[in-house]
Amino acid sequence: MTTNAQEFDRARGAMPGGVNSPVRAFGSVAETPRFFVSASGPYVTDVEGREYVDLVGSWGPAILGHAHPAVVTAVQDAAARGLGFGASTPGETELAELIAARVTRPPLVERARNERDETPRAGLETHPVERVRLVSTGTEATMTAIRLARGATGRDLVVKFAGHYHGHSDGLLAEAGSGVATLAMPGSAGVPAAIAAQTLVIPYNDLDAVREVFAARGDEIAAVIVEAAPANMGIVPPAHGFNAALADIAHAHGALLILDEVLTGFRVGPAGWYGIDPVPFAPDLITFGKVVGGGLPLAAIGGPAALMELLAPLGPVYQAGTLSGNPLAVAAGRATLDHLDAAAYERIDTAAATVAEATTAALHEAGVTHVLQRSGNLFSIQFAAEPPIDYDTVKAQEAFRYPPFFRAMLAQGVSLPPSVFEAWFVSASHDDTAVSRIVDALPAAARAAAEATPD
Ligand SMILES: Cc1ncc(COP(=O)(O)O)c(C=O)c1O
Repeated sequence: MTTNAQEFDRARGAMPGGVNSPVRAFGSVAETPRFFVSASGPYVTDVEGREYVDLVGSWGPAILGHAHPAVVTAVQDAAARGLGFGASTPGETELAELIAARVTRPPLVERARNERDETPRAGLETHPVERVRLVSTGTEATMTAIRLARGATGRDLVVKFAGHYHGHSDGLLAEAGSGVATLAMPGSAGVPAAIAAQTLVIPYNDLDAVREVFAARGDEIAAVIVEAAPANMGIVPPAHGFNAALADIAHAHGALLILDEVLTGFRVGPAGWYGIDPVPFAPDLITFGKVVGGGLPLAAIGGPAALMELLAPLGPVYQAGTLSGNPLAVAAGRATLDHLDAAAYERIDTAAATVAEATTAALHEAGVTHVLQRSGNLFSIQFAAEPPIDYDTVKAQEAFRYPPFFRAMLAQGVSLPPSVFEAWFVSASHDDTAVSRIVDALPAAARAAAEATPD
């Protein structure tokens, strides 16, 4: 048996920083990364044979719990039939149909009757996904959506919000939250200035900033890209009606709204954030990832036929992928969506609420200034007196309190995201036993956060 420290030493000799994705290096929490060998339900086990209750969930995909039997069986069956053909399979169509059918919301007139603060908005589509293209990563999905928006509008500029993460493509790394925030990097080296100049970065939840950027350059802007409910600077919920206003402003200027649901899609509800945003709105393109691949590399772009059919082979916007729609990934995605029924969402919502409330109670008890931020069943703790609303207010929190909190939880067998800028991922398999183990670990971690001092 090796130790985590030995594995990390060896990995650093073979891979930059010993990892294949930076946040896994545990740099910002000053701890030895755990090397996992197996996982089941809400638990992960490291090379030392130690079991942890997991709140990372593979960064989202493990929504049913790790190695869910139905997902594993679906993947095994698919593998036995062939790992990939470089040609189309019936399963791809079925997954595309499943995505299109799920991403819907009740007719607006009915909603308007039920929710007094909503004015029916004429012409709003309740089935925004008519065609789907499957890709392998969320990065590819957002990159393709942007190329499509540029192809459709004949314009070059893209508006993004500070602190939102849309993957690691050149044009989207400016003030990208999460990983770059964890490493305290301003952006990335290696992005040509000419490409960075095509992205206009503005503060989140600030409609005046949106109006200003459109007033100044509206006829050059192809699209606004937005995390449906931001979760890569910790959780920062959209202000009431923000997404709807964003869509209206973009559309008034002939630009598209790209709704990034890579993280929220099929997690916060059957139709993602689109299905639960209290004010209906009309995104043009929606990107999916994580849950939709059930733990294997799969992501997707969806939208109306008129836009999506601008993609090759029908249209002039090129996009392709050797492993796109891989049969194993499709099988995992389909099995996962099939098991994400109302009962599964209820289990996730209940477990998430219990963990969130226990965490805030423990921190209160220890006298730690903090806020609990929630968007549906996604939540995170921010060490601030007032709820952060954008990247600047997120960065102003007492982030130094998180590493000791994290380490205390880990020492007691709870694996949290190794950064204060990440959401906590609860799964449908977090039963009472798993939740109690988390709850029991919280008081000591809260005391560690209380005792923390700035570096
Ligand atoms: C909102 C959002 N968009 C895009 C991505 C990129 O996805 P991937 O890591 O699969 O490339 C992520 C990943 O965390 C994300 O959270």
